[in-house]
Amino acid sequence: MLITALAFASVVNGPTLSAPISIIPQPLKVEAREGSFVLNAQSSISASKELISVAEHLRNQLRPATGFALPVVARSRAGGISLVLEKGLKQLGPEGYRLEVSPSSVKIRAFAPAGAFYGVQSLLQLFPSGIFRKAPIADVSWEAPCALIEDQPRFAWRGAMLDVARHFMPKEFVLKFLDLLALQKMNTFHWHLTEDQGWRIEIKKYPKLTQVGAWRKDDMLTYNPPTYTGKPHGGFYTQDDVREIVAYAKARFITVVPEIEMPGHAQAAIAAYPELGNVAEPLEVGIKYGVMENVFNVEDSTISFLQDVLSEVIELFPGPFIHIGGDECPKVQWKNSPKAQAKMKALGLKNEEELQSWFIGQMDKFLDKKGKRLIGWSEILEGGLADGAALMVWLGDEGAMHAVSSGHDVVMAQTSHTYFDYYQTRETKSEPHAIGGYVPLNKAYSYEPILPAMTAEQAKHVMGVQFQLWTEYMRDGKHVEYMAFPRGAALAEVAWSAKERRDYADFSKRLAPHIERLRTLDVNVRIPRSSD
Ligand code: ACM
Repeated sequence: MLITALAFASVVNGPTLSAPISIIPQPLKVEAREGSFVLNAQSSISASKELISVAEHLRNQLRPATGFALPVVARSRAGGISLVLEKGLKQLGPEGYRLEVSPSSVKIRAFAPAGAFYGVQSLLQLFPSGIFRKAPIADVSWEAPCALIEDQPRFAWRGAMLDVARHFMPKEFVLKFLDLLALQKMNTFHWHLTEDQGWRIEIKKYPKLTQVGAWRKDDMLTYNPPTYTGKPHGGFYTQDDVREIVAYAKARFITVVPEIEMPGHAQAAIAAYPELGNVAEPLEVGIKYGVMENVFNVEDSTISFLQDVLSEVIELFPGPFIHIGGDECPKVQWKNSPKAQAKMKALGLKNEEELQSWFIGQMDKFLDKKGKRLIGWSEILEGGLADGAALMVWLGDEGAMHAVSSGHDVVMAQTSHTYFDYYQTRETKSEPHAIGGYVPLNKAYSYEPILPAMTAEQAKHVMGVQFQLWTEYMRDGKHVEYMAFPRGAALAEVAWSAKERRDYADFSKRLAPHIERLRTLDVNVRIPRSSD
């Protein structure tokens, strides 16, 4: 089968057959065939035991718009959709699938449930975009073009980071965001939960983190000149909210990676528990943006406090990684603190960078004991990277090279291509206020996570890539959507599609129907302009 599939790969790249099949991200192999499958009121969905929940997910997606019952049944029936796990498809990997649409049936086969789920996502994208409606509209023929699609992802980490600390995003939006990631076969939701401006996750042992730390008294509109709304801002997720979001993500084969920032970006926590800081004066939850000097102190009691926090976090998030931030930690307060200086001496450390490294090392050892892996931003390299730690690279390729050449895994998250808080056009006057920068759609699409300097062995340490939505200047979900789409579709293709299957002109053609899908899902998509 694989050989046949390879043989038609070249045909697909030709202009004639690609038109009706517009899947994002681009599958590995697509063979368009004659005819179409028509879903009707008699159609059913059959699934092997392990795939019942994926089949139910498909039914729940198809039922509202079609109005068809689409019962999930054990044995395949004529004219139906079937989902099958097949041991023989090991070569497709745990996330690969084969989708065959013929006039009489749809078959999704995979080696593992995640693959079947991604087969479902591709199938949904073969139907008219009205399939994403929540209730039937005027008569639509629910046709999917016949095809044989064989697919598997390029990278294991296909992520999106959402900062819910600068602006709190309600649970309903987070759930919608997860749906949109799943639609584009993304599998990692990096949830940036704590910041100078807000602490957003309930910690039972330290209730003031949210009672105090989740609320700030004003809300910055622009940094320069500094303007404010004059209104308080805040919010947080209870542990039950977190469980709900994590379970919702899991049902969509998305792993949630929580980020608890330390030792910098900690002002909200210090406002709640002043003993965590370095200065005597009480602090307020931050209202200004930028890098704050108020960072955690290095006392044993603070290390224990943060490990207690991580213990609760670990209980809530079943995934392998815990993100401890580690970025932008000014050292001025440690330099001025007799206690921090004494600690440095006692530990035999040369400078504050090594002190930071020691701090991160305490968390790394703790997480390791709990069976979790630490991941942190580029700066955790300064002063030496803990053995098992992985790096999220945002500060340039040097850090990535340093990490992979010493055997550490990396996730590429560079400002140059993946910071979607940046403007997406040079005509910034016609755009909502953003932090600056310039990452147009074609630039995001052009990103290549494997660096030319990497050897094949080093390249294996690139787990994948993700886009970042820092929300200083995104006040609500609608604005997040505007910044995330369609650039998020471009990055999904960077993360999923084979390098040789990426082609911007072809992506642009497939983007039109994808934008229709997103609009049907009530996503505030920014329509790209030629002047971008
Ligand atoms: C970052 O942008 N401070 C990771």
